[in-house]
Order: sequence, then structure tokens, then C-alpha cells
Amino acid sequence: MLIPGLNYKVIRPISPTIMGPIIEACSMVDWTQDGYGRKEQPLRNGKLIEFPFVLEGERISSNPYGEIETRIIEATKPLIAWMNKLYPKSLWLRGSLGALPPGATLDWHIDGGWHHPICYRYHIPIITNDGCKEMWSNDEVHMAVGYLYEFNNIELHSATNQGTDYRSHLIFDLIPESEWDDSTFPERAIKRKHLAYT
Ligand SMILES: [Fe+2]
Repeated sequence: MLIPGLNYKVIRPISPTIMGPIIEACSMVDWTQDGYGRKEQPLRNGKLIEFPFVLEGERISSNPYGEIETRIIEATKPLIAWMNKLYPKSLWLRGSLGALPPGATLDWHIDGGWHHPICYRYHIPIITNDGCKEMWSNDEVHMAVGYLYEFNNIELHSATNQGTDYRSHLIFDLIPESEWDDSTFPERAIKRKHLAYT
């Protein structure tokens, strides 16, 4: 958990054995294809592939996974297993591979989903360049490949890619089982047994 006032934290390195296949699979994505565009206004410059977690977006039902998406999800399983050891009994609410095209900057925003204030947000850079940075009002960081970061997404933030290639990060929202309360969000009809992801 981030100390109040901290915008990011390097959690620990991730082994090349885990990272290699993910980078290889993610390198195959053609982000210029129409289906990857984001719809949310502040994120409209970004691209997205969602993971089949409980809060998958409409994309999964409207645009079933193809070979590349399936390969990315398979390649990410050892990383998820590693994170499940690091954060035992965590519930995986949402996951995505988020990309930022060369020259793109996201609008400044605070992540406003119902689950954002209760989740811990993790970033795992997969493909990046020196022109990429995550930004807060008074802080910024270039997130390097090979590390797990925690990210403060409930303060005003943005991201930019001033390089010449796409930047992509895996982004996961987790909550420890001990902090989940089924009664808090009954309207979501999300039961704890559906939230474990292994
Ligand atoms: Fe955000």
C-alpha cells in the first residue's frame, strides 16, 4: 500500500523468465487496428486489451479474443502466479494491457470507477522508451521494463509517450480478500468466489 502522498513505488524486479514471453506476445499487437481504441474521454488517446477478470469491459463480449489476445493472456499467467504469491488471497478485479501511441498524452484525470478507491493499482511496463513518463501534479516517473510498480491513480494524473514507438503496460487492480466486503457493493452482484484469478 502506498504511503499517503506517495504517487508510485517500485515494488520489486520481475525475472526475465517471466517477462520474456509477455514482451514477445505483446510485441505482436497491431495497435493501429480499430478495435483497440478507448472510449473514455480522458483516455481516448490510449489503446486497450482487457483481461477476462470480473470487471472486463464490453469489449470482450463485443469483440471476442483473437489469437494474439489469447497468447498474451497465456504468456501472463506466470506473472499472475508470481503476484499471487506476493499478494496472497488477492482478488483480481480488473486487468488490461494499456498502450499509448507515439506522440500521445492522456488528459489529466482521476480514475473514477467504483472499484478504484478500494483497489491497489499495479503497473508492469512491457514495452517502453525514454520518452515515456507517468505524471502527477508535482511528480513524474519513467517506469522501466522489468519492474513491478504500485501506482496512485486516485490523485490527478496523466501519461505521455514522446518516443517513436508504442508504449505498453500491464495494469492490474487488486484488493486483498480481507479488505473486500460483499455487502458494500451488492448492486454489482459480484461474489467473492468469482474474484480469485489463478
Ligand atoms: Fe488513469
